[in-house]
Order: sequence, then structure tokens, then C-alpha cells
Amino acid sequence: MAAMTQALIRPARESDLEAMAAITAASYHAVDERTFQRAWPDPVPRPPSRNGAWMNRTRQALRTDPGGCWVAEVDGVVVGGAISRVRELMWILASFAVTPGHQGQGVGTQLLAAAMHHGRGCLRGMFASSADPGAVRRYRLAGFTLHPQMFVTGVVDRSAIPVVDRVREGSAGDIHLLDSIDRATRGAAHLSDHEVLLEQFRLIVCERSSGSAYAYVAEDGAPVLVAGTTRRTASDVMWEALASSAPGTSVAVHHVTAANEWALDVGLAARMSVHQSGYLCLRGMAPPSPYVHHGSML
Ligand SMILES: CC(C)(COP(=O)(O)OP(=O)(O)OC[C@H]1O[C@@H](n2cnc3c(N)ncnc32)[C@H](O)[C@@H]1OP(=O)(O)O)[C@@H](O)C(=O)NCCC(=O)NCCS
Repeated sequence: MAAMTQALIRPARESDLEAMAAITAASYHAVDERTFQRAWPDPVPRPPSRNGAWMNRTRQALRTDPGGCWVAEVDGVVVGGAISRVRELMWILASFAVTPGHQGQGVGTQLLAAAMHHGRGCLRGMFASSADPGAVRRYRLAGFTLHPQMFVTGVVDRSAIPVVDRVREGSAGDIHLLDSIDRATRGAAHLSDHEVLLEQFRLIVCERSSGSAYAYVAEDGAPVLVAGTTRRTASDVMWEALASSAPGTSVAVHHVTAANEWALDVGLAARMSVHQSGYLCLRGMAPPSPYVHHGSML
């Protein structure tokens, strides 16, 4: 193990948000630069518009989970942070980063221990890991099972888009329905996280007597979270999202585990291609299905 840096680990505050946003953007970008494949587009740092979304999500976590949000300080400067939430009996790690110049010196280990203490009463744990070998080492040593994540990407073949009926726009009035789909798939509801997701994404909902599903959809048509009680309804909301992508423009669906071949099959039918990146890290549970998790809200 490398020499330990003397870092002060303390609860994160609202005034740390900007520094933490910059650290996560820089360290995630550095990982992307190290791990992206040649056939993929060159990685770009998180744009300022998405930095705002990151700060809004994290501000909510500071309110709902003050005990799950920690920063590390060296000589009075914030050099890292870990943001985690507890939803029902699930611990969720949303963000975890140390500034590149301070990595590999034990700061991350201390941050992760503080965040995991917040989840000590939980039965389950769930988060998305980057492909960073240091992060993956920490997660496996902390006892998590690593499930490789695939993603599908490409321009959606318009002629492949099926007619899907009974998919409608969702709203805050659907949160009880969304929470019950979450419990059936993920084993824990998102609760107030739905309010944050509703602010940042379009929500679509499918309700049929045979099952129900929902998806949060980014501006470019990418479904960033899909959950359903049946593969059929989950596939239909994924199609509805992809159909909203701009013709001729590439779109990606991230975080597909092997337990969710229905999502691969939708992507393949849309003539998108399959790649692999990072892991879904789990404790006390099997990979959720039919389910495509969000990167930080899971
Ligand atoms: C993940 C991260 C937060 C860990 O913070 P850190 O301060 O570097 O963590 P630590 O020094 O406590 O531990 C890192 C471990 O990975 C090891 N490591 C570092 N680079 C490695 C590599 N290329 N291959 C294998 N192990 C590596 C270190 O030796 C250390 O293990 P050890 O303590 O058993 O020797 C930090 O590296 C980071 O910000 N990474 C980039 C962002 C990221 O991917 N975050 C996770 C998002 S899910």
C-alpha cells in the first residue's frame, strides 16, 4: 500500500459543491481518457450544463443524507469526496472521486469507509463503477460483487421502431407507481430522488393490465433509467425513448447488465452496437431486472 496522506475527512457542506463538481469532472474525465477504446468517440469533460445537474443532485443528497456525504481536505483544500444515499434498506454510492494528484495515497479508502458507515443498517448496496482499476480494487475489497456493464450506441434505425401504445408522459403524480416498480425490480424505492430526476429528465410511463414500466429520458433521447414489471413494458418505454432521438444522430444506452438482455435486444433491433464499460457493484442482491440503472441515482 502507498504512503498514507494526512487528510481530514469531514462531512460535506453546500459550500463544497463547486469544488466537488470540479474534482469529479476532472477525475472521471481522466479515467475516460485512460480507458476509452479507440473506436469510441474521444472523451469530453462533463460540460458546464451537466455540472449544474450534478450539483443539484448532490445538494439534494446533502439534505436527505448528511451522514452519507463526506469530503477529504489536505492543507485546507478539498481533494476528494464521497456522496452516498440510503433509500429504504439500500445503500447507494452516487459519487466517489479524489483529485488526480492525490490518488493512490489512501484518501479514497478513508472516504469510502466514512460513506459506507452511513449504510451500516442496510441489507443491500448498489452503485455503478467506472473502469478505473483503483476504484474497482476498492469496491471488490469492500465486499461488492462486480457485474460488467454493457452499453448500446449508434443511430436508431427509424424503420425498426415499432408502434407502442399506452405509453404516456409522466409527472409527480406518478411517483407512487414509480416507487412500487422500483421495489419490485431494485428492491428499494427512489422516494425523493424521483423529484430530482423529474427536474432533470423527461418521464414516460406505460401502464397496462399485464404490467407497467417507466423511463427517464435525456434530451437526446437516451433512456437514463428504465424499470418495469415486465420485459415487454420495459422494452416499450425504451423504444419510445429511442424514437425521440433526433434522426441521424447517435444515442447511447448505458448500464445494461447481462440480466437485461431485453435491453440489448431492443438496441440490436434498432441497429445499435454493443460495447462494455465499468461495473454494476452489488451487495446482498442480484442484478435488478427488467432494469437499466441511472449512473448516480441507480
Ligand atoms: C477511485 C478513487 C476515488 C480512489 O481514491 P484513492 O485516494 O486513489 O484511493 P486509495 O489510494 O485509498 O486506493 C486506491 C487503490 O487502488 C490501487 N490502484 C491505483 N491505481 C491502480 C491501478 N492502475 N491498478 C490497480 N490498482 C490500482 C492503489 O494502489 C490502492 O490500493 P492499495 O491501497 O491496496 O494499494 C480515485 O482513484 C479516483 O478518483 N478515481 C477516478 C474517479 C473514479 O473512477 N471514481 C470512481 C467512480 S465509480
